[in-house]
Parts: sequence; structure tokens; C-alpha cells
Amino acid sequence: MKNPDPSVPKKIEKLRRELSDHDYRYYVLAEPVISDEEYDRLMRELVSLENQYPQYRTPDSPTQRVGGEPTKTFPTVEHAIPMLSLGNTYSEEEIVDFDRRVRDLLKSASPEYVCELKFDGVSLALRYSDGILQRGATRGDGVTGDDITQNVKTIRTVPLRLKDAARGLKNCEIRGEVILFRDDFNKLNDDRELAGEKLFINPRNCTAGTLKLQDPKIVASRPLRFFAYALYTPGKQLASHYENLRLLRSLGFAVDQHAKKCSTIEGVLKHWRQWEAARDSLPFDIDGIVVKVDSLAQQDALGAIAKSPRWAMACKFASRKAETRIDDIILQVGRIGTITPVAVLQPVFIGGTTVSRASLYNEDYIRELDIRIGDTVVVERGGDVIPKVTSVVSGKRPASAKKFTFSARCPACGSRLVRLQDEANYYCDNESCPEQIRGRIEHWASRGAMDIGGLGEMIVDRLVREDFLRNVADIYDLKSRRSELVDLERWGDKSVTNLLSNIEKSKTRPYHRVLYGLGIRHVGAGVASLLAEHYSSIDDLMDAAGEELQTVGDIGPRIAGSIVHFFSERSNRELIRRLKSAGIRFTAERVKHAGGPLRGKTFVITGSLSSFTREEAKEVLESLGGKVLSAVSKNVDILVAGKDPGSKLEKARKLNIEVWDEDKFLSVAKKK
Ligand code: IVH
Repeated sequence: MKNPDPSVPKKIEKLRRELSDHDYRYYVLAEPVISDEEYDRLMRELVSLENQYPQYRTPDSPTQRVGGEPTKTFPTVEHAIPMLSLGNTYSEEEIVDFDRRVRDLLKSASPEYVCELKFDGVSLALRYSDGILQRGATRGDGVTGDDITQNVKTIRTVPLRLKDAARGLKNCEIRGEVILFRDDFNKLNDDRELAGEKLFINPRNCTAGTLKLQDPKIVASRPLRFFAYALYTPGKQLASHYENLRLLRSLGFAVDQHAKKCSTIEGVLKHWRQWEAARDSLPFDIDGIVVKVDSLAQQDALGAIAKSPRWAMACKFASRKAETRIDDIILQVGRIGTITPVAVLQPVFIGGTTVSRASLYNEDYIRELDIRIGDTVVVERGGDVIPKVTSVVSGKRPASAKKFTFSARCPACGSRLVRLQDEANYYCDNESCPEQIRGRIEHWASRGAMDIGGLGEMIVDRLVREDFLRNVADIYDLKSRRSELVDLERWGDKSVTNLLSNIEKSKTRPYHRVLYGLGIRHVGAGVASLLAEHYSSIDDLMDAAGEELQTVGDIGPRIAGSIVHFFSERSNRELIRRLKSAGIRFTAERVKHAGGPLRGKTFVITGSLSSFTREEAKEVLESLGGKVLSAVSKNVDILVAGKDPGSKLEKARKLNIEVWDEDKFLSVAKKK
């Protein structure tokens, strides 16, 4: 063990504080003030100090979030305060009854309520002593649960050490819900699909499965989040639940930002209806709201019956699950020829829309759930709107139910389907399959790729049918066929002008998005960025051999094989030649690392710019070597302020930060 210089423990402590604060800003406030590179640098510095001086390693260090050694079983632990569940209802009358009951019991005092979102995840109890996380436990049966501390430590929104405000709160227990954001869930499932692994049914299911994993390293790789909704502080009691929520926030927890105080039950009903209509606008799933009596003294007076408190109630939203029958199973062809089986359903009304189709993912999914034509199934519509069949109601299976066998041929072009070894999907191998042509063009024009506004599904379909487009390079020849486009039935001059201008604009998209847009099988946005970092031009990438590709990041034999195969096709090489001559970017702007004119400068963009979206402006600044952050702080050099800049401009002025208007920004952007 190395004998430290006396400044070492201080330095370690400073790094820990800084890193925890950046975690908080990034994960809880969603307002990072340093770049990812800077964060990684601080983390590396801390890891190296802790390796040199292991005597200073503590369980609350941010380095401990990576996940420790696997465990065989989770110890059972007892909850000092039982974890109750909530009475729940779907009906307005029962919510009014709840209010009446509360008022009757409280006699003269009238209640104030707090309405909170009901997170659709898995509940978790955290124990802190002296501000340091000691234990994370599942609810279990409410009296005893599993000690899953090692897994919990990997959740970035669970503070390993409470923020300074914890002083005076020696020991406390915090309860809340672990959830997964829908986008993160979809990414995880996309990766699993690519890897041919079993898919998770929904974010809650995935969260529950993840928390039960025995290997904390896998847990660490899944971006779970924790939202706190209850605080127990022996000895020190605040007056109200609402104040508790505020305190939880200052301790470093994410809480429901939409929590609302209501003094009447009408207010509660309004909040309930509002969120039922707006639930899909949240990045995560909720299944209702929870109404709670705000005063903690009144909560005590009301107490609990059986396993639920009398002072709270879950007001659930109409279910978005329904039973219906599968009339048929058909095959759909995706952009890279992936064949997806889809259930044709007896139309059923779920959460505001009529659902008549639902995804069945792949052959293995159908087999695992033993789904048959004629079966009655449960269909769920999650927040992302694509309905899924999640189970079979086995008791309702008719004798005539028919097993589904995958057809040997593509439903769009008749080519023979192939299923590669170790992959869950069948593919149509025919490059000229009309469904694939449409899919590839839609993908190229989509938001994450070339983002060509106005080139959506319907227009692509039409342009393919009318033989304007056979591949993505044809998009850039459309300008020479302007008058033919204007002559198309119901297409005005203005729509054509807009479309052509959006097509021109797409030529400025960076190389990594172009790579993603090509739609190479197994090359998602993440892999495309990796490739763009390693191969600064498409020529280098096209010449890379499979073994060489496998030295890049996590790229394994399957992805490498797919890239090599893509570039070995003459038609793809020809496509790239045409795209190059149309002016598409096939080289990385290395200035980010090599020293562009804005190197070392840190920016924040605020307000709206008339000629760029913020994302585009960010790309311009980054391509010139600048770093773009989302919050104004003293670490920022320049604020780019468009129209209606709001509080960021005020803050920048206070901090004497240089401010650029749009003209100044454009003059710099033009130097590119
Ligand atoms: S309060 C004493 N608030 O819903 C009851 N629960 O049975 C304390 N849930 O398992 C629960 N969001 O995990 C409360 N904002 C919220 C919640 C919430 C989700 C979960 C909780 C519990 C279930 C209700």
C-alpha cells in the first residue's frame, strides 16, 4: 500500500463530490454541465487514485457503480416499516367516496391532497445511515424482501451518498419506484433482437427481471432509474408529504416533478383525467395517479386497514390491455428484408384506439408463447403505441386453433426466405424486393438518419410506385425532375419546393448519420458512430477486412460480417459512388479531436434559430471543434441565443458569458 501524500484523501473526496454532482445533474436534472469526455477523465482520475491508494476506497464512491462480483442468492431482509400497497380504483365515484371517507374520519379538519404520478415499475426501499446508502431491498411480501444492494448501487439515480442537505437526517428510509424509460427499453430490445435474444415484454417486466439478476455488471449496463415517493425519518418529522418530496429532491433524488397539491377532490379528478390524456407525453410508463393526504399528522390519524393506508389511493387509468382473437398471422417485410409476423386481430378498442394488428416479433416468440391462429390473446398497447400480443388465454383455445408455420417465400416478391444460423429472424434476400426498397428509403429519410422532412411513408410509397425512386441515390436526382413532380396529381409547387429544399439540406448531415442511413444490417446508430470514429472515410471502411472490424469497440463477427457483405455487393458500391457525387458526406470531420477553430470553447444553445434546429447547430459547433452543453454555468464560454432565449440568457449575462446572436453564429458556421 502506497503511503499517501496528505493531499490525496482530499483530492479523492473532491473528485467524488464532483462526479456525484455531475451524475445528479445528468441523470436527475437532465442538465449536464460538462461533456462526456470530461466526465470520463474525472472518473479515470478517481479510479487510478483509488487503485494506488486502496485504503481510501469506500462503498459510496462513484467508482462502485460498475457492478461488483456476481452473487448466488439474495439474503432475505425484514422491512422495519412494512411496505404497504395501495387501494386502487378506476372509477370517479370511488375516488369521491375516498374523499368522503377521509373527511368523515378526520371530522373537523379538512384534508389537502397531493397527487403524484403512479410509476409503472418495481418498488424499492433504500436505507441510509449517516447519509450513506446501506441497503436496497425489494418489497417482497411487504414484510420481508430481498437484499439487492449490489444491483441497486448501479442505478445512477440512487445516490450512494445523500447530498449535503442530509445533515441532521442521521438515518432514514426512502421508498420509490425503479423504472426504465421507454426509449431505453426500446433500445435494449432492439439490441436483443439483433443478438437473437429473447425480448422483454414491456419496461416494467424488464425492470423486474433486471433487478433480480445475479450479475450486477449486467444490471449496470441497463439504464434503470429510481423515482422516490416516500421518506421515513425517525426522530425528525416534517409536516407534510409535499415538504418530504421537496426534501427528497434536495437529498439528490428524482421525484415526480408534476406532483400537485389539490384542496378539493374535483382538483384530484382533474389531475387524474389530465394525466390519463397526457400519459404518452412522458418518457416512461405510468398506470394512474396516486392521491395522498398531505398532512403527515392526518396520515397518522387515518392509519391503515389490512395492507393499505386509509390516507392514499391509487386512481388507475383505463387498462390498455384487452383480450381478443387472432384471425390470422401475416408476414411483413422490413427495410433490410427482416420478416416480422403480425397478428391480424378481431378489432378491439384499447385505450382510445381500435387495434386490429399486433406484432409477434419472430418465430421464436410465437413458439415460446405458443400462439396459434384462432387463439384468444391478451393485447397490450404500451406508450409507444405499437400493440403487442403478450399472452395466450389458454382456457379459451378452440379445438380448431391452428399452429402457424412460416411461409418459405417473401410475401412481397416471392423470393425464398432465409434464416441465418443463431438469428431469430427470417430475411428476404432480394435487394429489389419492393417492400425493402420502400423501407430503405424511409429509413434513409428518417429522423435519426438524413432527416428529410416531407419524405414520409406515404410520399415514399407514392414515389416508389410512380418509379421516381428505386434507391436512396435517386432522391438526389429528383431536382432534375421537378416539373414531373409538380404534375403529379395533388402535388402543388410549394410542396415540391419544400421537399427539394429539405433534400438539399440533408447533404449537410454528418458522416455517422449517413452510415446509419445506409441501413446495413446490424448497424444501428451506436455502431455507426463507432465506425465513423474509427474510419474517417467510407473508403477506409469499405476496404476494412472482417478481422480488422472486430477490433473496433464491441463489434463482433456478426456485425463485421454484415458490413463486409454490404460493401462486397457491386450495387452498394455503385450506390455510394452516386451518393458521393451528389455531395453526401462520406468523411468524418476530425476537427473535434484535431483542433478546429472552436477547439476548447464550450457552448450552450438557447431559443430558436430560424435557419437551423438546435441539433443542427450543435453539429455545426462540434464539427468546428466546440463542445455543446445544455446548462449555463461558469464553465461555458459562449451562449448562442436565438429567438425567445428565456432564463439561460439572463444567467449568461450575470456570469458575463459572451453571447452570439444568430447572425454571428451564421458567420462562424459559414467558415466550415
Ligand atoms: S405510495 C403506503 N406513490 O404503486 C403506500 N406508490 O400498491 C406507499 N407506486 O407498490 C406507496 N408510484 O410501488 C406510491 N407515486 C407513488 C407511486 C407508488 C408507483 C407503486 C408502489 C406500490 C404500488 C401500489
